[in-house]
Amino acid sequence: PDPSGARVFDLEVKSGTTVFEAGRETATWGINGNFLGPTIRARRGEEVAFSVYNGLDEGTSIHWHGMHLPAVMDGGPHQEVEPGGDWTPQWTLNQPAATLWYHPHPHGRTADHVYRGLAGMFIVDDEESDALPLPKTYGVDDLPMIVQDRNLDDDGQFEGGGSIMSMQGILGDRIMVNGTLGPYVDVATRLVRLRLLNGSVSRLYNFGFADDRLFQVIATDGGLLPQAWETDRLQLSPGERAEIVVAFEPGETAVLRSHPADEGYTGPLGRVNGADDLLDVCEFRAAAALTDETSVPAAMGTAPDLDPADAAEERSFSLAGFNQINGEAMDLQRIDFGVREGTVELWEVSNADGYMHNFHVHDVQFQVVSVDGAEPPERLRGWKDTVQLVPQRKYLLAMRFADYTDPDLPYMYHCHILAHEDSGMMGQFVVL
Ligand code: C2O
Ligand code: CU
Ligand code: CU
Repeated sequence: PDPSGARVFDLEVKSGTTVFEAGRETATWGINGNFLGPTIRARRGEEVAFSVYNGLDEGTSIHWHGMHLPAVMDGGPHQEVEPGGDWTPQWTLNQPAATLWYHPHPHGRTADHVYRGLAGMFIVDDEESDALPLPKTYGVDDLPMIVQDRNLDDDGQFEGGGSIMSMQGILGDRIMVNGTLGPYVDVATRLVRLRLLNGSVSRLYNFGFADDRLFQVIATDGGLLPQAWETDRLQLSPGERAEIVVAFEPGETAVLRSHPADEGYTGPLGRVNGADDLLDVCEFRAAAALTDETSVPAAMGTAPDLDPADAAEERSFSLAGFNQINGEAMDLQRIDFGVREGTVELWEVSNADGYMHNFHVHDVQFQVVSVDGAEPPERLRGWKDTVQLVPQRKYLLAMRFADYTDPDLPYMYHCHILAHEDSGMMGQFVVL
């Protein structure tokens, strides 16, 4: 690609060490640093170019989760970067303001690479969102929140990565936000916007405050909702994002937690994804006086508006049986199907297992049309690229494949519980 005219970002993937607890150095991987990566921020309409250097001694990739872009730029398992190698993707951002993220996607090793520390946020801005009175001062009242769990062994090393990772993946009992254990935030404004990302490999979070205060949900994976809605709990499975706005009182301390799950995950099967845990995520310490200049407007983004009656094709996907989709495990050499550029498709996705899966589709944002034939719950009503699949339920998804044809290079769809993805719960499609 020719980076002339594009905004160029340099990303170096490397290994190093990080001190999470005083006096103990943990071996970690990071991007432009030793753990996690920088927040990338760019505007709709802007052309971006990346120079990704792989400083590890094994292959990896950088996938832009939630991004609408050509398959060759997607950073999936077909775009692995060799050790010491470079990769230079380039595209024009063409989607509404949203909280996206990036992470490695090497075939069979995604969980390990994310667990070691490779992930970052990718914020897309646009004119419409700039014009809204929402909190938007990065690091002040607009905070990235990459929420992850880890196990630390007696030597302070990450435990449970690599080959001993189980079928369900790792469930850590230490929660980190943006790579910090026991995090807190000094709050100076009445309203604070949190860009929540479940960046864990397998843990389910059910976010809510210790005092059960209400907060407003303003955005899902694909961007701002038409209207905010109020809740005291918001459940996010691995890979999902949401933006919320919380109000604080002067001088107070409030604790964001992850509570036992709301939907269908208690008991032994819930344990698998930590769905019965109660964990502190982050503490908010409000100043004695708070400024109050932002608000949540009555109208924000656009509602998903695909008409299932327009669907050119219907497909069904059943997730079950030792990490297979429709009875098959992922094969890098097999392209499962082709979709037609410009058409709408309806995908019926069911979790036929007794434990949690979720479903992520590359390149598009989809609309959850129904869950078991009924209206989706409020939290699934905006544009999504990843949806949690409650056991034994069917989700009808509508999506439009707007452009970027490539007969040879596929996009992925998969369970975003990374141990499942790595062991085969993934398929590939091309846009024709
Ligand atoms: Cu977040 Cu296929 O990835
Ligand atoms: Cu993705
Ligand atoms: Cu799964």
